[in-house]
Amino acid sequence: MENFARNSLEKKKFIIFGGGFSGQFISNEIRKLGCEALTSSRQAPKNNTSFFFDSLSSALPPEHIFEGTTHVLSCIPPDKSGQDPVLSRLYKQLKSLNLEWVGYLSTTGVYGNTNGEWVTEKDPAKPLQERSKRRLLCENSWLNSNLPIQIFRLPGIYGPGRSTFESILKKNIKVIHKPNQVFSRIHVADIANAILYLLLKINHENFKQIINIADNYPTSQIEVIEHSYQLLGLKMPKPLDFDDAKKLLSPIALSFWEENRRVSNNLLCKDLGYKLIHKNYKSGLKSCLEIIKQKNLI
Ligand SMILES: NC(=O)c1ccc[n+]([C@@H]2O[C@H](COP(=O)([O-])OP(=O)(O)OC[C@H]3O[C@@H](n4cnc5c(N)ncnc54)[C@H](OP(=O)(O)O)[C@@H]3O)[C@@H](O)[C@H]2O)c1
Repeated sequence: MENFARNSLEKKKFIIFGGGFSGQFISNEIRKLGCEALTSSRQAPKNNTSFFFDSLSSALPPEHIFEGTTHVLSCIPPDKSGQDPVLSRLYKQLKSLNLEWVGYLSTTGVYGNTNGEWVTEKDPAKPLQERSKRRLLCENSWLNSNLPIQIFRLPGIYGPGRSTFESILKKNIKVIHKPNQVFSRIHVADIANAILYLLLKINHENFKQIINIADNYPTSQIEVIEHSYQLLGLKMPKPLDFDDAKKLLSPIALSFWEENRRVSNNLLCKDLGYKLIHKNYKSGLKSCLEIIKQKNLI
């Protein structure tokens, strides 16, 4: 991680809604900077850094967790009706806090299908999937919330514990060949690092409300899988043609193959000067594999 000026976020208190894969990773990085970070869970809290929040439950988080909160980040996807789980239950609470910053993890799915063309934040959102239409509704709710909101649009997230290695090792990977199909991706460490970079380095003059966080190298899924097999010293199975594989995919898995786009990070990396930790999947996977080996998982 980049060694940021460690004191400038000191004494700030973050509430992270959705302590899942990204939420946990980001909160750990925030704590390393000397800030307090609490994460929500739909399970009973396991320690004093987590609290219960389930938008479908009548129970709301206890009042005291909000005391002194300066920053909020939501990592929770839209609910089935397209409402934002945090705003629908906690808007008044958030409005009462005098927050310095509110972040929202969204998806690049809102851009829809571009047939492999690059998309930037200036391109209009044209969501194709119902879940992406719901996501755009949530983005708009945050933008209209009158909170100091910043939205991060993310492609496929991977990182330690969630990569092609786990799928290969658990033998639930499907090796599929679809000509000219690419996916963009981002290592979770870059989501955390980019958000902290923006919080620490960016001032009011160059503040951007919607920012893509993606690596420099959109590419086919098969290229990533092949490289993963090579790193594991295993032989990749013969790929299935997409038309044959279609019958084996769940509707949600299939829906990802209906969109083909390259997500530009020019705003983040060129205009705002962020340097990626993992410019491409090779760098990201290398670091995932080191962690797998350290944990003796292979
Ligand atoms: N995964 C990807 O490749 C990807 C790509 C682009 C964007 N995104 C979006 O980026 C965000 C973070 O992704 P992620 O993969 O890190 O997410 P994740 O691991 O699936 O975590 C989602 C979190 O949301 C919480 N949650 C879900 N529904 C909730 C509800 N109704 N009430 C309260 N909490 C609820 C979950 O609670 P529990 O911890 O209790 O389960 C979990 O902590 C999500 O919005 C995701 O849709 C993901």
